[in-house]
Amino acid sequence: MKILNKQIIKDVAGVKIKQLDIFSPDIAANAQPGQFVMLMASENGERIPLTLVNTDKIKGTLSLIFQEAGFTTQSLGRLNPGDSLYSLVGPLGHPTEIKKYGKIILVGGGVGIAEILPVARALKKAGLPAGQAGNHITTILGSRNKDLLILEAELKSASDQIYIMTDDGSYGRKGFTTDMLKELLSKDKYDLIYSVGPIPMMKMVAGISKEYQIKTLVSSNALMVDATGMCGCCRVSVFGEVKFSCVDGPDFDGHGVDWEELEKRNKVYSVQEKHICNLKKNNGDGSIFPRV
Ligand code: FES
Repeated sequence: MKILNKQIIKDVAGVKIKQLDIFSPDIAANAQPGQFVMLMASENGERIPLTLVNTDKIKGTLSLIFQEAGFTTQSLGRLNPGDSLYSLVGPLGHPTEIKKYGKIILVGGGVGIAEILPVARALKKAGLPAGQAGNHITTILGSRNKDLLILEAELKSASDQIYIMTDDGSYGRKGFTTDMLKELLSKDKYDLIYSVGPIPMMKMVAGISKEYQIKTLVSSNALMVDATGMCGCCRVSVFGEVKFSCVDGPDFDGHGVDWEELEKRNKVYSVQEKHICNLKKNNGDGSIFPRV
């Protein structure tokens, strides 16, 4: 669980995205695309799930990419090479189903792009007997602007075609990933769509692909506590059935997800999160205990 390398992928306009390479041979040996780990940065910290972006079975390492968004991810971001995580459990969740589908569109938004990468690489190679081509991969990446786009080069090499969309038009085309998705679906036939990113984006992706009746997998980013199916925190309704993201997912059929419920559940602790961040800021020393 020792951190071997730390890379600051983005530090722009208050957005910090970092990569940690961690020595964990058992997890690296068993991990498959789409799976995640649960970690605690420190003994008193909370547990957070992070998708395995890369694993090296020979070196026994795994890579995690995360955006500093709250107290725990900021604590994680302060760790350095040589430090160790307090705990790391994985690989968790079902792997993404990797097989020959044909033509696939991958849609990644924001830091969700990191989660697309291992799936893109595996699907690209998922040819049948040697010599046959793998899936044909078209990737659509979206970010607010050019400065915040991550892993473009890596996804370019795992894709046959790539389209970049930025909200402000500073790179690629101006618009949203869903604009490009609509354009592609209106011109050609596809066999699978796989999407990871903000909930509103995945919800729109699923809404668009439903009209074309194309199988659509989304990697749900539900809140998690124990990640073993015991606490019920990560409940997601799929086609009216209650599923747990940690043990039944994280991938679900996007056409069956109750998106309104998922959005509501993910905001349930936003007041408490804001409160902790304010305490930390006011105390000025990173502590979260109210001063009296
Ligand atoms: Fe507790 Fe999934 S995180 S049941």
